[in-house]
Amino acid sequence: MAATRRLSHTVAVITINNPPVNALGSSVCHALVKEFGEAIKDSSVKAIVLSGANGKFSAGADIREFSTSALKTISLEDINATIEASRKPVVAAIDGVALGGGLELALACHYRVANAQSRVGLPEVLIGILPAAGGTQRLPRLIGVPAALDVIVRGRHVPATEALQLGIVDEVVQGNTVNAAIQLARKVIGTDLDKRRLSTNHVPSNPNMEIFLDNAVEKAKKQFRRAQAPIACIQAIRASVQKPYHHGIKKERELFQSLWATGQPQALQYAFFSERNVGKWTHPSGGRWETIAPKPVRTAAVIGLGTMGRGIVTSLARVNIPVIALEQDAQQLEIGKKAVNGLLEREAEKLIKQGLAPGTKLASVRFTLDFAELSDVDLVIEAVYENMELKKQIFRKLSTFCKPDAFLCTNTSGLDIDEIASVTNRPHLVIGTHFFSPANIMRLLEVVRGHQTSLTTISTAMSLGKTLGKVAVLVGNCPLFVGNRLLGPYLDQANYLLEEGYYPEEVDKTLEDFGFAMGPFRMMDLAGLDVGWRSRMEKGLTGSKVPPGTPARQRQGYRYCPLPDMLCEMGRFGQKAGKGWYQYEKPGGRIAQSDPWIKDFLQEYRNTHQIKPKPANPEVILERCLYALINEGFRVLEDGIASGPEDIDVIYNNGYGFPKYRGGIMYHASTVGLAKVLDALGKYHKENPDVPSMNPAFLLKKLVAVGGPPIKEWKTQVGTLVNKL
Ligand code: CAA
Ligand code: NAI
Repeated sequence: MAATRRLSHTVAVITINNPPVNALGSSVCHALVKEFGEAIKDSSVKAIVLSGANGKFSAGADIREFSTSALKTISLEDINATIEASRKPVVAAIDGVALGGGLELALACHYRVANAQSRVGLPEVLIGILPAAGGTQRLPRLIGVPAALDVIVRGRHVPATEALQLGIVDEVVQGNTVNAAIQLARKVIGTDLDKRRLSTNHVPSNPNMEIFLDNAVEKAKKQFRRAQAPIACIQAIRASVQKPYHHGIKKERELFQSLWATGQPQALQYAFFSERNVGKWTHPSGGRWETIAPKPVRTAAVIGLGTMGRGIVTSLARVNIPVIALEQDAQQLEIGKKAVNGLLEREAEKLIKQGLAPGTKLASVRFTLDFAELSDVDLVIEAVYENMELKKQIFRKLSTFCKPDAFLCTNTSGLDIDEIASVTNRPHLVIGTHFFSPANIMRLLEVVRGHQTSLTTISTAMSLGKTLGKVAVLVGNCPLFVGNRLLGPYLDQANYLLEEGYYPEEVDKTLEDFGFAMGPFRMMDLAGLDVGWRSRMEKGLTGSKVPPGTPARQRQGYRYCPLPDMLCEMGRFGQKAGKGWYQYEKPGGRIAQSDPWIKDFLQEYRNTHQIKPKPANPEVILERCLYALINEGFRVLEDGIASGPEDIDVIYNNGYGFPKYRGGIMYHASTVGLAKVLDALGKYHKENPDVPSMNPAFLLKKLVAVGGPPIKEWKTQVGTLVNKL
């Protein structure tokens, strides 16, 4: 039954029942119409409580049904209108979540009681649409425009205590929410409900409202770039101020339809489901990690409190996992301790803002220099310098000091997990947990399985990722894993473009206009140019190990761009040095400004190498950089390093600033058309046959050969095609 009804004295309790999240699919909507109709008619019923089964009110419209009929959700507003018009008081009993259409249902009720642990919100913007069942019209009427704008445009999940302060809910309870709602319902039987019908109220406004909304649009354009939904949300809220409810609702519908036509909702909904599907991977043994129970991680240790370690400690403490933090010497320990405590203080402040008592959820962090103190932890995350010998030394020690069943994780950004595991006494418990910087903020976690990593280890690392609030993607072990591996060909193209006549600003602007959070040169400056330089020196691509007589722009017969090395040789390491591809106000400064020196430097370089600059063409920048990423994505699939295109997309959306409203890099390829991508790659490879990364991937060619199937069919195609390799 999609919804049930029982009678508690004179109160009808209607319960939405559609596991796992009580999404309001068409069967639920039909059931609600029936149950409300009968409760309203039944003379023994004096009031109604609306609740959700299994500890959740409702996560809103069933997103899966959008693709079958984009506008099916609209009928929810008819249900809302019926509820609101009811002369019998209706009280929403909110447990777990009331999101999207779920909150819209609750806003149509006359009162709302929420459990202290619950969250409410209108997060439709995150899936490319706007609240389409009166949410943009009722919420501003309830809490005013500024607060509604903040909740709707950011798609925030608002904790119950804050929802009470804002006035979204009327009561927050610790115990049984339905009983509390029944009590309230009985109390308000026979009272005047007019003021409780939000659609009949006016939106509080003032003479500056139009300017306020104009500013909000400008701010949203800057913050969300080309994402359309935030702007549509503001336009709908504007309608709530200017027009009566029924006009506002009409506007809401029109905006919903025009958003659908942009393709962004489809891309964002693909991204939403991708995040839930990633990493579902069959182990070589034939087993699947999702079917294996994770081991509990009650305590953890982090080795190395540098850039990454301190963020990892904070992420663990934030979710109540006590941490032992270990450094190499007293001085580093003190520096790390200060940094961690600073981050934890900020976390505590956030918790207080959310209405929770200071320190409620932060677990203890113990600082030490002694490996013996790690004897009892369930899991260790190593985050020392990126150096194989050092990492092996640490893992040998961990083998000695940690209990036999402790999981040993490495935060390496690309070293061989199997080699690290090989020095331990438990390679099956060794796994890569590749966090992204800053680790306490970035959502992505690449979980890297080695050849001997057990299903339990994978399951535990994936589950820890979820506990930490990350999106964990399971990937295979290869140099640089997935995200950083794809970055190589992308950055190569960006560098080649500079050789050929472009400037960092032009390349960055084109990719930022496309939607990337940051262009490649600003990104390199932020990450530090020296990181790649050191690794190239180790590989003998630059510096003293390069054999004499090697051409400046070639290595082992392939094209090579020495520009980043030349910058590093001059100490231009990026932001940390105050100069790189851009100049900054000071070392460590963040505001990138064009540097005339770079212009002269590039011109001189082109003269030296007799390169005639090509006419500027933003399309070329886009195609070369994006298609380089996509092509390497196909190779990753061919190699079985990612389990499907969704995994690559989740990684790029959450770790590399790819615009989510374009779905992901592989999804983007599918919307551009695989044949077009193949043609362009073929053309660029012909122009530069010494750039192997632009040689179209075998899998791309095969997919085009079978007619370029839709992305959801690639996974089966990948399996079939790879087996035929
Ligand atoms: N529709 C369909 N399926 C949904 C769903 C929805 N609204 N919300 C969640 N699910 C599914 C997930 O895909 C997942 O399915 P699988 O188990 O098959 O992978 C399952 O429910 C559990 O979801 P999560 O793994 O995300 O579970 P969680 O506990 O980590 O998070 C949640 C739960 C906070 C509700 C989260 O799923 C979420 O944010 N859901 C989306 C909420 C949302 O955007 N609502 C607005 C819908 S649009 C709308 O309502 C339009 C309107 O105005 C009428
Ligand atoms: P970092 O240089 O900022 O910090 C490394 C820390 O390890 C230092 O505090 C150092 O004192 C400590 N350390 C060194 N030897 C030690 C030992 N024997 N015992 C205990 N502590 C020791 O390095 P960062 O950037 O934090 O990188 C750490 C790891 O994370 C590397 O493997 C790196 O590749 C990876 N990584 C880095 C990212 C970044 O953006 N910085 C992103 C993702 C992964």
